Amino acid sequence: MRKKIAAANWKMNLTFQEGMELVNALLTATKAVQEPCRVILSVPFPYLSSVSALVKGHQWYALAAQNCHHLKSGAYTGEVSAAMLSSMQIPYCLIGHSERREYNAETTTQLAEKLMRCVEEQIQPIFCCGEPLAIRDKGEQNEYVARQLAESLFVLDADQLSQAVVAYEPIWAIGTGRTATSEQAQAMHHHIRAVVAAQYGEKVAGQLSILYGGSVKASNADELFACPDVDGALVGGASLSDTEFTAIVRSLCKA
Ligand code: PGA
Repeated sequence: MRKKIAAANWKMNLTFQEGMELVNALLTATKAVQEPCRVILSVPFPYLSSVSALVKGHQWYALAAQNCHHLKSGAYTGEVSAAMLSSMQIPYCLIGHSERREYNAETTTQLAEKLMRCVEEQIQPIFCCGEPLAIRDKGEQNEYVARQLAESLFVLDADQLSQAVVAYEPIWAIGTGRTATSEQAQAMHHHIRAVVAAQYGEKVAGQLSILYGGSVKASNADELFACPDVDGALVGGASLSDTEFTAIVRSLCKA
């Protein structure tokens, strides 16, 4: 059975104190989470160790870094390597979020390298993909996303890919309040699974968790999670509120 995942992406939000309060509130409110559901918290680097201590013993909770460097180590001031994350037992890392592709000019080759750094260190990458509005308006989203997968994700072999998670996040839906309809989400997730199946086979594709991201909130979660190829969500804005994110987690667990 595929893992169902509610992943929070705090981005560059919350003070340390606010973050710790949020995690404590979530842990109290989401006691009923169990297999095959997982809650993943992608928090800023300096908070990883403290959040890790807070969620210890809550076996369905796991942490993710929001990025790692594409090289193994060296004179790169301000950067964080996959090996460092691994040495802190951080199990997941976001790779290729559209904000990093845009504001940090991350290239598809660098993303392929980051994916390799993660799997070398037994970190499970959450690979983000998704098209901008102009591509969606032209109806070219399927080709666009297939290319993003081919140019970066497919550097992994089948074993490595089975450790990965994919997050489909149409750029026009991120932080805009405009969510993809459940039909649009299902169609793209189905497409992604087919593209992965063509490369790695049906079995690997059938086991891949594909998350939807882009203005997911408590009010649209049920509808999205009802789609057969939507295995969870990557949640930005709504993950900063304990009540909103708890409602999303509950909706996933009952889906
Ligand atoms: P959003 O962000 O939920 O605020 O749209 C999602 C994301 O960027 O991961």
